[in-house]
Amino acid sequence: MATDLADRAARSDFGNLTGLRSAFRDVRSLTARLAAPLSAEDCQIQSMPDASPVKWHLAHTTWFFETFVLTPHVPGYRSFHADFGYLFNSYYNAVGDRHPRPQRGLLSRPTLDEVLRYRAYVDERVGELLADDAAERIADLIVLGLNHEQQHQELILTDVKHALWCNPLRPAYRARASTTTTATEMPLMRWLDREGGAAPPAGAAVPAGVTADHELRIPHVHG
Ligand SMILES: [Fe+2]
Repeated sequence: MATDLADRAARSDFGNLTGLRSAFRDVRSLTARLAAPLSAEDCQIQSMPDASPVKWHLAHTTWFFETFVLTPHVPGYRSFHADFGYLFNSYYNAVGDRHPRPQRGLLSRPTLDEVLRYRAYVDERVGELLADDAAERIADLIVLGLNHEQQHQELILTDVKHALWCNPLRPAYRARASTTTTATEMPLMRWLDREGGAAPPAGAAVPAGVTADHELRIPHVHG
């Protein structure tokens, strides 16, 4: 399942609208599951200016869908909280000011519970949007949001790994896997076939003002 999801994400192609609906649920729920072993205190920590709290990642990936999918494409959409746009914008200058990155760990409010309610609120609205076959027109935007969230899933793990390491008690992210687990239960890693040459960033319909740091130059894909 995880390998299949990664494969589809690598292609930036989740197939038809039915595939996109299930991919949306899969990616969003995986982010929540990555945070599940952590306490609210764990999710609050920012161990250095270049890292972000897990709570911030949970909210920021949700802000992306609210800002670039729901607000422009759902008539009369009411945002979950008027100030979340300022708190959870990152480097998208075109959509307004933002809270300074080195101070993300100071955001004790909203609480983790409120951020999780924010995620549920946005998930429900996006689900309603995707239930309509007319959502085909925003499929590229949804894929972009999912790819963005998968990037932050990696950041959740790397950032919290550093935060937990900073604690002299060396708490574990989660209990060690059972010793009965065998290598055959792990998904096999494999190379993915790609055409060589220059390739544009993933997603054909990148919203105005959205530029990820890895998108500033046209990457080369080596087949
Ligand atoms: Fe981001």
